[in-house]
Amino acid sequence: MTKLLLAAALFALSAAAAAGGNPAAGKAKASTCVACHGANGEGIGPSPALAGKSQDDLLAALGEYKSGKRTNVTMKKMAGKLKNEEDMADVCAYFASLKKQ
Ligand code: HEC
Repeated sequence: MTKLLLAAALFALSAAAAAGGNPAAGKAKASTCVACHGANGEGIGPSPALAGKSQDDLLAALGEYKSGKRTNVTMKKMAGKLKNEEDMADVCAYFASLKKQ
């Protein structure tokens, strides 16, 4: 049973790595995000929950704030703080790895 869980965990980790995101690195880079989105990505007030969403959905949303397809002054600025695709993928991998509250 433990072996099975370990295999599942390893598979989940390698799946995240394949998508180009490192949740552990993302946690460090998400320190500004959690002020609004919550320490566990649970969402606070007008800031929606990020925990439990897929990495792809989070990445797509960030990309849309960056490009201006989705208009939100705050999130455009925040998305702009993530300098490159690696930072974006890491942060999204981190929030996607959190359990929905
Ligand atoms: C000052 C508060 C604030 C900070 C800091 C902040 N956000 Fe947001 N975020 C918001 C608000 C408010 C929304 C909803 C905007 C809208 O209506 O589109 C949002 C929306 C989002 C969404 C879209 C979620 C969805 O389901 O549609 C994502 C993804 C997101 N934020 C990621 C981040 C990341 C990653 C960071 C850190 C780099 C961050 N946010 C920092 C306030 C914040």
